[in-house]
Amino acid sequence: MIGSNNYLGLTHDPRVLAAAKSALDRFGSSCTGSRFLNGTLSLHEELEELLASFLRYPAAVTFSTGFQVNLGVIASIAGKGDIVFCDKENHASILDACRLTYADVKRFRHGDMEDLERKLKAAKPEAGKLIVVDGVFSMLGGISNMPAIIKLAREYGARVMVDDAHSVGVLGERGRGTTEHFGLSGPDSGVDIVTGTFSKSLASLGGFVVASEEVIHFIKHMARSLMFSASISPPNVASATTALKILESEPEHLVSLRRNVAKMKKGLDELGFDTMGSQTPIIPIRVGDEFETFKFAKRIFEEGLFVNPVVPPAAHVGLVRTSYMASHTEEDLDFTLRVFGKLAAHANASADQ
Ligand SMILES: Cc1ncc(COP(=O)(O)O)c(C=O)c1O
Repeated sequence: MIGSNNYLGLTHDPRVLAAAKSALDRFGSSCTGSRFLNGTLSLHEELEELLASFLRYPAAVTFSTGFQVNLGVIASIAGKGDIVFCDKENHASILDACRLTYADVKRFRHGDMEDLERKLKAAKPEAGKLIVVDGVFSMLGGISNMPAIIKLAREYGARVMVDDAHSVGVLGERGRGTTEHFGLSGPDSGVDIVTGTFSKSLASLGGFVVASEEVIHFIKHMARSLMFSASISPPNVASATTALKILESEPEHLVSLRRNVAKMKKGLDELGFDTMGSQTPIIPIRVGDEFETFKFAKRIFEEGLFVNPVVPPAAHVGLVRTSYMASHTEEDLDFTLRVFGKLAAHANASADQ
């Protein structure tokens, strides 16, 4: 399996499974209601406190999915007369949120700070401005240039929101995500809002946003995807909480993840694949042509490896997305490199076309 987002390998950790089972027995299979009404348990509040403290933000609120977080946060915060500046490779949930908001939306070229600045400069000075980026881009594996974004935000009076779906449990010395990666901490550092998900490193289902007390209070009362949707089910909350506690107390998972990623990045680069500048456990292999991308993914699958073929609009070009976990063994990775070695000639020939 080199196609999952289970970066820390915790989906089968016995402690995560035990916590889910125990929450199921104690609280039942569902909350059958939204956080706003009958769907708040002590479990949700415990997870929110833990998250806020782990990510070094004053407050947090959890949603039923990360997709709903982005919809709810952007559509409630940005309104008429405001402008959202959005990286073109941002996740679909952010792009959909941009369609929901009454604000104007300006999409800037992927990672292009000059294009972002041009768009900020052209905006009315009095407009409320929100810059939104993925911390780690889900298909390309690159990291947003937060210091440059914060600098521009300060210069042009914008707020900053980062989607850390693929960064929590991946980036930063202790896995706190993009902010920690760049030595930033809390809303005063220039990143006003961090959103994320439990469906990747945290081995569950659900999403979150952290920000100042005021911003979280506002979101709790304005985000329609929070208010009008049932809250995360008890076993999912309990598994996310347990995975987060493991991340906090056992840095060895991050060490294994990084060791595995370094080995694969080096191995794939040495085989001549174009890994598109990835800096994270998401290592894409550029293929180019869409049909060739599916053919390549099928060949890889026939050799015993699961990967995800990705074509536009999920990415600007056809690629095979590989991703690595802390729980992969040396044997797993050597097998993977042997398969890619065998297929290298085929893929590289297609990429050249
Ligand atoms: C960058 C990013 N944001 C948000 C999401 C949505 O997360 P969830 O699976 O919790 O809906 C994803 C998942 O694909 C993602 O990659």
